[in-house]
Amino acid sequence: MLRVAIDGPGGTGKSTIAKAVAERFGIEYIDTGAMYRSIALKSVREGVSADDVAAVEEMLRSTDIDFKDGKVWLDGEDVGGLIRTNEISMAASNISKLPCVRANVDELSKRLASTKDVVMEGRDIGTAVIPDAEVKIFMTADPDVRAKRRYDQLIEQGKEADLEKIAKEIRERDYQDSHRELNPLKQADDAVFLDSTNMTIEENIDAVADIINNAM
Ligand code: DC
Repeated sequence: MLRVAIDGPGGTGKSTIAKAVAERFGIEYIDTGAMYRSIALKSVREGVSADDVAAVEEMLRSTDIDFKDGKVWLDGEDVGGLIRTNEISMAASNISKLPCVRANVDELSKRLASTKDVVMEGRDIGTAVIPDAEVKIFMTADPDVRAKRRYDQLIEQGKEADLEKIAKEIRERDYQDSHRELNPLKQADDAVFLDSTNMTIEENIDAVADIINNAM
């Protein structure tokens, strides 16, 4: 089996890299952050606060999250176009602290990784979701560089962007994701550390592919 676990903070370009690497190796790409984002989207839509655990548990009882064809489905709806906003980034980080939410996403992620070769990315894939993954990578980049990449991306899309605000949100989310009680963002002891601060996307894809080839 080939299960590649890629973890790291937000805004490193993990998704782009993981998707390209999965394509190169002809295996499936699974984005666990998208699952947390979908649950966050539903909570925002329904006005359910992450502080109200009972309400979140109740919401989850009637929530169906699925991942197929490289996309996340929320109650049968393709929400890919709705979950990449700053509001949902922070809401996902908030709601992902709750044990009931983590259990929900964990169960689906573990099931998806149990039957086929995958590149799975998130915060706790190498430490908790697939602790026996054949390849583990912890990918990071300087927070200011991550903020600038996100800023450039928004400007390129013709959207408004405030570099300082983005940098502040990135730092807040880094702190929150790495300081929560349950399965925080943390490098697994046996993960390869990869700093992409000075890498282009192509170089980053090649670096990940080299790590996988060396491990095989
Ligand atoms: O990778 P991302 O930025 O799409 O993830 C959004 C949020 O979801 C992130 O801030 C924390 C949470 N998350 C998590 O707790 N565990 C994962 N494996 C993936 C994401």
